[in-house]
Amino acid sequence: MNAAVLITGGASGIGRAVAERVVARGARAILWDVSGAALEATCADLGPLADGRVVDVGDATAVAEAGKALNAPTHLVNNAGILGGRMDWQAIDPVEVSRILAINVTGMMQVTSAFLNARVAHPQASIVNIASIAGENGGAPGFASYGASKGAILALTRALARDLAPEVRVNALAPGIIDTPIQSAVLGSAEARTQAEAGIPMGRMGTPEEVAEAADWLLFKASYATGESLRIAGGRR
Ligand SMILES: NC(=O)c1ccc[n+]([C@@H]2O[C@H](COP(=O)([O-])OP(=O)(O)OC[C@H]3O[C@@H](n4cnc5c(N)ncnc54)[C@H](O)[C@@H]3O)[C@@H](O)[C@H]2O)c1
Repeated sequence: MNAAVLITGGASGIGRAVAERVVARGARAILWDVSGAALEATCADLGPLADGRVVDVGDATAVAEAGKALNAPTHLVNNAGILGGRMDWQAIDPVEVSRILAINVTGMMQVTSAFLNARVAHPQASIVNIASIAGENGGAPGFASYGASKGAILALTRALARDLAPEVRVNALAPGIIDTPIQSAVLGSAEARTQAEAGIPMGRMGTPEEVAEAADWLLFKASYATGESLRIAGGRR
């Protein structure tokens, strides 16, 4: 049976690389992304197996509406996420904290709910949540809200895996530093990049394709893995 994979944040970086793998195996890729222009370009590149819709996963009404229009999804990759602004502990901005949690955590929960209401059975039905090693180590200095949101995703992965077994497997990926646009906020200069790479045992940033390879395995092949989190971080903790 052909799979249909809903991928949030599928227009760029890791989400786009996952969509490329999905289409390459002959499955449908349903992309939800907040950026209409990037979505249009990505869908044009991916061809007829890809279908895109502008959805802000932090907007409950938009997610509910898009959920009703879902065409028989079998798998889900909760990938959309934001880093948010840098914050000192002495100047916590509750509006910014709420924005990060609304997209990275509440949004992920609402998308999962919409997917579960629309999904059709598949022998390898599964969900992959894109967390981060920041969910384990707290994240880069100044980005504690992001770390907290990713820690929540690791907990939600375990809760979902327990609640949805045996019909749907649920696993998380915890990437380290991956070379995508989200990193430009933290690693703007060549110097910052070199410094970051010096802290990675593998000596380099990862690629979106290397994360997508692991997502493909968890989605379609890891038939006895559920509730797990797999680091793709070049040895970084
Ligand atoms: N790049 C890294 O180093 C790294 C490391 C660990 C985890 N991650 C996680 O991987 C995921 C993908 O990040 P990426 O590195 O590919 O970044 P990216 O910025 O290249 O891609 C993120 C995509 O999500 C979309 N998006 C953002 N907010 C959205 C919203 N509210 N609704 C729908 N779509 C939205 C963006 O438009 C973009 O297309 C994120 O959850 C991120 O936290 C990335």
